[in-house]
Amino acid sequence: MKRLILIGWALLLAGGLASAQEVIMESGRFQKGDNPAWQAPDFADAAWPVLVLDKDWNQQGIQNTNGIGWYRIHVVVPSSLKKGVVEAIMLDLGAIDDSDETWFNGHLVGKTGRFPSDKGGYSGEWQQPRRYIVDPKWVNWDGENVIAVRVFNGGDPGGFYQRSARIVKPGLTDCVSLNLEKEKDGYTVVLSTAVKTAGTLKIEVADALTGQVESSKTQKVSLGSWKEKRLFVPLDHHKRLTVVYTDPRFEEEEVAQQITTPYILTPKAPATPRYNGPLVFGVRPGSPVIFRLAFSGEKPMKYAVEGLPEGVVLDPDKGVLSGTCTQAGDYPLVFTATNSKGSAKAAFTLKVGAQIALTPPMGWNSWNCWGLSVSQEKVMASAAAFINAGLADYGYSYINIDDAWEAEERNPDGTISPNEKFPDMKALGDWLHGNGLKLGIYSSPGDRTCGGYLGTLDHELQDAETWASWGVDYLKYDWCGYSKVFNASADHSVAANIRPYMKMQQYLREQPRDIFYSLCQYGNARVWEWGAFIDANSWRTTGDITDTWESLYTIGFKQQVGLHPYAGPGHWNDPDMLVVGKVGWSNNLRDSRLTPDEQYTHISLWSLLAANMLIGCDLSQMDDFTFNLLCNNEVNAVNQDILGRQAHKDVEEDGMQIWSRDLADGGKAVGIFNLNGQSVPTLLSGALAKIGLEAETVRDLWRQKDIPTEAQYMIPSHGVLYVKVK
Ligand code: GLA
Repeated sequence: MKRLILIGWALLLAGGLASAQEVIMESGRFQKGDNPAWQAPDFADAAWPVLVLDKDWNQQGIQNTNGIGWYRIHVVVPSSLKKGVVEAIMLDLGAIDDSDETWFNGHLVGKTGRFPSDKGGYSGEWQQPRRYIVDPKWVNWDGENVIAVRVFNGGDPGGFYQRSARIVKPGLTDCVSLNLEKEKDGYTVVLSTAVKTAGTLKIEVADALTGQVESSKTQKVSLGSWKEKRLFVPLDHHKRLTVVYTDPRFEEEEVAQQITTPYILTPKAPATPRYNGPLVFGVRPGSPVIFRLAFSGEKPMKYAVEGLPEGVVLDPDKGVLSGTCTQAGDYPLVFTATNSKGSAKAAFTLKVGAQIALTPPMGWNSWNCWGLSVSQEKVMASAAAFINAGLADYGYSYINIDDAWEAEERNPDGTISPNEKFPDMKALGDWLHGNGLKLGIYSSPGDRTCGGYLGTLDHELQDAETWASWGVDYLKYDWCGYSKVFNASADHSVAANIRPYMKMQQYLREQPRDIFYSLCQYGNARVWEWGAFIDANSWRTTGDITDTWESLYTIGFKQQVGLHPYAGPGHWNDPDMLVVGKVGWSNNLRDSRLTPDEQYTHISLWSLLAANMLIGCDLSQMDDFTFNLLCNNEVNAVNQDILGRQAHKDVEEDGMQIWSRDLADGGKAVGIFNLNGQSVPTLLSGALAKIGLEAETVRDLWRQKDIPTEAQYMIPSHGVLYVKVK
């Protein structure tokens, strides 16, 4: 971007560089504490110390845990920002740790997260970008303006931290938003705007597979600032509704706002029983067997199992296997489920031996929805949904508690307890096991976790024993707090990266139960090369995922390339948890910001990658679209395929990528992904020929039907055509 430097302003005020397009604010005055008078533009703050905005306040000598502080930024806004069609400016403050309220010349212009005194209590939003629109009539053009930002910090660090703040000229996508509100028989399209706009609204309904447009209408819209327009569109939820708003006055890349409905592709499961779970289960000799037969269909159901080894029993009403088997070996079993509509059988192998996690783990984890606000009650709500909403009928079995379950201090004997949000871990474990589900927990090899809670350092054996006594079946062990120990030592070798993980593994293996061991160290020291050798069952290959296309694209399409040789039964690459459904990393949940097509891409790619399928949303509020994503038995069967081959990228061409993997039945799963900004018509036979495959028909896995290959399919922007070739 061209930047015109106005030195006079830079010297006088915090707003450092100003240009025709943006003003950069590198610092502001700061005061700990809270006082409503500090929002006033003329408040005398000259005695307040100056803090830079690209470093948190802890790094600048301010200790203010669980406290409030105010920034006051004095800035000249040049009238060059007024030119152009958008009659508004935007504050682009970066991210703030943790919640904020922001005033511009005494006018409240935005708020993100909640303060402890707010209804519902504190909720931090440290990852959220702050982009606030300011009405131009509040701006003192070419003169001094004051931005006052009230910040609450829950757990260090605190304050502005990401980068310098800016004032920019917003684009159409910043000022005009399109939303869809789901109604019984369709959607209400809501177009709302912070600025005056005159444009065209195009509403199109298409067949989700072929892209064939079934109806299309265009309407002229003219709205004043801070106004909205609402329009009802009747719709069958299998159709793909796309709404595009265009205002021709806006700049090129900002001409349109587009939104697509969460269209459902997975056919409804039949009322008769159908087996949807994995075809093998591994357990060590003498460890408790915990397995729930995953049959969909009308309940109640009766279950039977042939071939059970001595010591393992079935609850015929719940379909839950329990007990232990001391004799190693492969036990071929036949499952039967019967309901009033019919009956179904499934062939299965119980493998009693050294290896567990023979297929990638499927379950739920609290982090992407609740973040540090997790509680036993919230965990139970999702666990109950495993059974009531039917996720357990598709093989989901782990209920994993992430960070923030830990008490503030260890007990006098050095053991760890949960905090008051988790009144009874053992009871939670017992309830899960009684229903054939499993319990997961989180800790760090450091003295503190990522969220600042107690870690396991120097209490490894004690913690492993405590968790085993609660019935823990899965441990996510997060490097985070251990970096202090690591950085303090001169040894940064691969061995030093491995050491804390090996230590814990030894103690986990001493417990009288199988504990899935999940390494979380973001791919450091090429973990995929040694994870399996220290008997880890999965390892994170990347940093944390979030619900944006950028994050999904980087983690999924860039950082997994070349990792396929390292995955296999018992040990898996983990590209992080799912970001579909209602997520939010706090008490503030929202629908995933990924578009419906991006969500299909996400699940298809994780299915291909043999990735851990850990749901990250609140399941007590799951909608039909999310259920359709998570519970497509054919898509999940690829993820759970017993060969355990992870997909590799075969083709990358014109923004399209083809990934494929071999399956145990001799077939191949193939994902054709469109990473372009617009839909691309694709001749299926042509795409398959690029990877040497020829077939007249293939199975469309999302729609669960055979489709001809000599046909063009419209692959939506950021979407996928996911097929199985026999
Ligand atoms: C790290 C991990 C996340 C989550 C948090 C908890 O960021 O990568 O998955 O466990 O810590 O604090």
